[in-house]
Amino acid sequence: MAEKLIAITGGTGAQGGGVANIMLKTPGWKVRIITRNVENEKAKALKERGAEVVSANFDDEASLSKAFEGAHAIFAVTNFWEHLFTGKSRDESGVLEAKQALNLARAASKSSTLEHYIWSTLPNAKKITGGKVPCPHFDYKAEVDDKIRSELPELAKKTTFLFFGYYPSNMAFFPMCKPFELPGSYGKYVQILPTPASAHIPVAGDLSINSGVWVRQILAKPSVSKGKYAQVGPETLTFGEMMKIWSEVTGRQGEFLQSSVEDFSRIWGIGGEEMASQLVFGEAVPDWTQDLPFVGMEELGIAKEEVPGLKATLEELKALL
Ligand SMILES: NC(=O)c1ccc[n+]([C@@H]2O[C@H](COP(=O)([O-])OP(=O)(O)OC[C@H]3O[C@@H](n4cnc5c(N)ncnc54)[C@H](OP(=O)(O)O)[C@@H]3O)[C@@H](O)[C@H]2O)c1
Repeated sequence: MAEKLIAITGGTGAQGGGVANIMLKTPGWKVRIITRNVENEKAKALKERGAEVVSANFDDEASLSKAFEGAHAIFAVTNFWEHLFTGKSRDESGVLEAKQALNLARAASKSSTLEHYIWSTLPNAKKITGGKVPCPHFDYKAEVDDKIRSELPELAKKTTFLFFGYYPSNMAFFPMCKPFELPGSYGKYVQILPTPASAHIPVAGDLSINSGVWVRQILAKPSVSKGKYAQVGPETLTFGEMMKIWSEVTGRQGEFLQSSVEDFSRIWGIGGEEMASQLVFGEAVPDWTQDLPFVGMEELGIAKEEVPGLKATLEELKALL
């Protein structure tokens, strides 16, 4: 049987990189990576592993149409934080992200070969909380889900809406979430976030594997996954449990401390406000998939042994914690 082609956006990043990693090992599939810079070291490494690497920009729909030519599947992810960290307000960042996401969806909808569209999205915090907790990096993505259904109904039939849980790598690389040594405490580490230690959050696990396993299985089971929501991550943990696991892995004494939303936002600025709104939403709504047409890991045929959870992921990242 002829091989099928998956076009992967964000292949040089965390989510798309994991999708590429697994799909390059999946029989029956060829991989095309989409990046703004084909000279990127990660793109070059994927090329060496057999991926085709093409250049396109989410701001340019025509470039995406070209990059999607001949693709049977597309993995689409956008990056809210790049807009926020280059000086835009929280809402401006959401507007820009949604515009890029609609460029991706429109380009995909015009493809004659496309069988399955996988869109990396998040729940609508604003809508679910009746307007009380807007969270732009969630809400604007979720509004794109609605637009796909209302404006691109043929694409909607081919779409799986894929949530990603909290990344364990946030504890290594995301300054707001990285535990730090408290000066003068003789080796005590603290993580300070504006949520109680008892608040639950879905955890994505090892993105370099899990994002690809979910995508592979979504593609393998189109009859149960099209038109549905799925969520990358094998477990839901509390922030207190996560710090306990971090302590076991690092061998350091780690404590979780809750700050107020106001203090967290004062320390971390606009990024802190955005993170805090996610956590306030998550505290109120720990199950992001409630009331949605959802397909779980069992139905997708994902074995727990194949998808590392927090502990195994932190073990891999140990040198960077
Ligand atoms: N951190 C978490 O816990 C978490 C959890 C759930 C969801 N998320 C969501 O994850 C998303 C980011 O995904 P990620 O973590 O995989 O990001 P990432 O590792 O920062 O990578 C971003 C990717 O997007 C590509 N990209 C960005 N702008 C582009 C453009 N204009 N044209 C073409 N490609 C572009 C980049 O490609 P090049 O630079 O190579 O062009 C890169 O491959 C965010 O929207 C965030 O809300 C994060």
